[in-house]
Amino acid sequence: MSDNASSTVIRRADYTPPAFLIDSVALEFDLAPARTIVRNTMRVRRNPDAAPAPHLELLGEALEVLGARLDGAPHGAVRAHEHGLTVENVPEAFELTLESACAPDQNTTLSGLYVSSGNFFTQCEAEGFRRITYFLDRPDVMASYTVTLRADKAAYPVLLSNGNLVDSGDLPDGRHFAQWEDPFRKPSYLFALVAGKLVAIEEQITTGSGKEKLLQVWVEPADLDKTRHAMDSLIHSIRWDEQRFGLKLDLDRFMIVAVGDFNMGAMENKGLNIFNTKYVLANPETATDTDFANIESVVGHEYFHNWTGNRVTCRDWFQLSLKEGLTVFRDQEFSADMAAGDDVASTARAVKRIEDVRVLRQLQFAEDAGPMAHPVRPESYVEINNFYTMTVYEKGSEVVRMYQTLFGRDGFRKGMDLYFKRHDGQAVTCDDFRHAMADANGRDLAQFERWYSQAGTPRVSVRTAYDAAARRYTVTLAQGYGDASPAARETQQGPLLIPFAIGLIGRDGRDLPLRLDGEAAASGTTRVLDITDTEQTFTFVDVPEQPLPSLLRNFSSPVIVEYDYSDDDLAFLLAHDSDPFNRWEAGQRLATRALLTLAARAAANEPLTLGENFIAAFRRVLTDANLSPAFRELALTLPSETYLADQMAEADPAAVHRARQFVRRQLATALRADWLAAYEQHQTPGAYEPTPEASGRRALKNLALAYLAELDDPADAVRVASAQYDASNNMTDRAAALGALLSAAAAGANEPAEHALDDFYRRFEKEALVIDKWFAMQAAQRGTPAQPTLAKVRKLLAHPAFNLKNPNRARSLIFSFCAANPAQFHAADGSGYAFWAEQVLALDAINPQVAARLARSLELWRRFTPALRDRMRDALEQVAAGAKSRDVREIVEKALA
Ligand code: ARG
Ligand code: ZN
Repeated sequence: MSDNASSTVIRRADYTPPAFLIDSVALEFDLAPARTIVRNTMRVRRNPDAAPAPHLELLGEALEVLGARLDGAPHGAVRAHEHGLTVENVPEAFELTLESACAPDQNTTLSGLYVSSGNFFTQCEAEGFRRITYFLDRPDVMASYTVTLRADKAAYPVLLSNGNLVDSGDLPDGRHFAQWEDPFRKPSYLFALVAGKLVAIEEQITTGSGKEKLLQVWVEPADLDKTRHAMDSLIHSIRWDEQRFGLKLDLDRFMIVAVGDFNMGAMENKGLNIFNTKYVLANPETATDTDFANIESVVGHEYFHNWTGNRVTCRDWFQLSLKEGLTVFRDQEFSADMAAGDDVASTARAVKRIEDVRVLRQLQFAEDAGPMAHPVRPESYVEINNFYTMTVYEKGSEVVRMYQTLFGRDGFRKGMDLYFKRHDGQAVTCDDFRHAMADANGRDLAQFERWYSQAGTPRVSVRTAYDAAARRYTVTLAQGYGDASPAARETQQGPLLIPFAIGLIGRDGRDLPLRLDGEAAASGTTRVLDITDTEQTFTFVDVPEQPLPSLLRNFSSPVIVEYDYSDDDLAFLLAHDSDPFNRWEAGQRLATRALLTLAARAAANEPLTLGENFIAAFRRVLTDANLSPAFRELALTLPSETYLADQMAEADPAAVHRARQFVRRQLATALRADWLAAYEQHQTPGAYEPTPEASGRRALKNLALAYLAELDDPADAVRVASAQYDASNNMTDRAAALGALLSAAAAGANEPAEHALDDFYRRFEKEALVIDKWFAMQAAQRGTPAQPTLAKVRKLLAHPAFNLKNPNRARSLIFSFCAANPAQFHAADGSGYAFWAEQVLALDAINPQVAARLARSLELWRRFTPALRDRMRDALEQVAAGAKSRDVREIVEKALA
């Protein structure tokens, strides 16, 4: 690996078009694990729209040059250097053939060409193609690709690349070949190849336009029984994109391939999507309801990229959200439509919205409050792989959603149609997308650009006043950023355009009809107010009584709302709001308030108590049969420890943990009979089905079990959980039962937990994804003073099934401890941080991308109590002193700056 310790900053403002263009590429691979030879023949010409350059500068990394020919003749004027290859003395237009070698079986970075379980795979986004061959490896250079793969036929019977198979056959010495042609021009980051011993399930489908298409899901032979759900999800995705956006599959063949070693979730390579096995393989015995849902959404996501990403791609990596924010929005809408059909008001839709917002608020808001805060369209980066972030993806999706909130589904569709009409086949910017939305809807969206350029989470503070005599209700909305982090503050220039959805609720719990001052008549019960100034007042007229405002319905923009609700107001909203998102939100606010008060008391070693009203509000939700089980499960789940700690002036994970455990125990005890009843009432007899209905029932039932496991006497929970563990026909129930037994172990019932852990391991020894769960559950386990979780984690590092080189396994043990077990990770003695530093440095030498993700677990160190802060700084400094990769250095240097 080259020493890339120097941290060069790449800036958006420095963008220049490429000096050369590449029209076509012919790649020939002689595949062998130790040394693969790549011959790359490119048609190159000078870019008429760029400043002339003296030489052709190609990017390349970890390559060995074997030869160069220009227009057929040997070309001596090539110079290999740290970042690539300089080709001197080049004419206006020419053919360049380069031959180079790489070592796939030494490639532990999983970027470029690598080997996983003996098969070959590639990952080129963002800058992996340069590890395969020298190239203008940037998204605005789009070329046509022809790919010839040659390999030993017995070892690599399947040879795949992008597009259509145009030729194949046998070669001497037991070798064979396949030639693939991609009919669409594409940037190099969308190139892919796969070679090895794989099998596929296939479907033939006919698209709206009557064309036959071949769909395949390729996996290792033992996994063929876990491909049906991914295939169904693919077919549903194709249908959905035709119906909702009029976008058709443009290839005759579409392939998904699963690989066990993968840095991220999946990759949208043209016609040859490559997936982490975690987002492909599922059957009822091995995958949970969450896994099934994730597979549907990731299959959708990658498929939808075919239009939003591939047909129209990014000009440069600063525009990453152009494709990622938009495609996350599309996959969220797809999942919502799959769950709810056309019913816009269905709670299944709200359940999906709540799940998405919960992720945004826990992870993206935190990112936006720390040293890695960046706008949806970043201004600079050191390592682009560090910018595949919650901000670019999830906040980016919220920004796209706001167009739909402003213009409605039809207006949004018009904007999409115009975007494709203008930019099909091009590499464009976030501005191009915004302009298409603006022009299609006849609206000036200049101010809206700030959503792309300003970092930090906006705050909207709300004041209300009711004038009974005049029957007027005024709502004053003021926007700002509060005390944003320095990284965010420097990007902030002015007020945003915030679509703010609001309803007013009367004393009987019903929505009041809404009429704004100046309007002829009332219409509707939810209004979207467009906030454009720092402070604005909206007046509702004809308001018969003092209402309770329901603010930011359905989370209409990614902001924090500040309003002085009383506890009674929140309980009322939780019971009555017609907007299911805000019902959930009211419950979360109520719980957050109570938990933060308790955390402060816990920190001061004062006794803890929980009010009767709080318990009563929870009991009402639990026993309200009008609410769907899925919704009840969400409403009865307390805000996470991480989220709560983030809300404190100084984060104190131990105090939060004590407070939250106290409330869980109180709710378990006070509602014991109700939990038991809910457990019994929400069984799902019969064959397993991953439908929203059935998974909602399982979710509530298993939440009930989790609460029962908090009881001081865990005997009931152990009995119920053991029975469920043995009887379950699906992983959702089996894993939940094991989880409950692990909780009960913290209350002293060790033996049943150990027994179930052993059984689980033996039963699923051959299922890598299930063994990941086995590691993850133990790393996230509560731990006691006598049995700290870290001791267990360290023991598991030496387990024969542990492998640091496999990202899923590393995540299951190490990340689960460092990111999903705050109380144990933030142990007062700093042992968690020492472990973190050790593991970041170990991963840094193997896989910088994965190492940099882990490095981020300490970035919010300045927000913690002084004692923890000092220990965190020590650990960060240790990593800063030892890390070699640009990836990790960027994270820890920004954290310490
Ligand atoms: N484009 C992929 C997706 O969102 C993500 C690939 C990111 N890979 C990386 N190494 N940064 O579907
Ligand atoms: Zn994506």
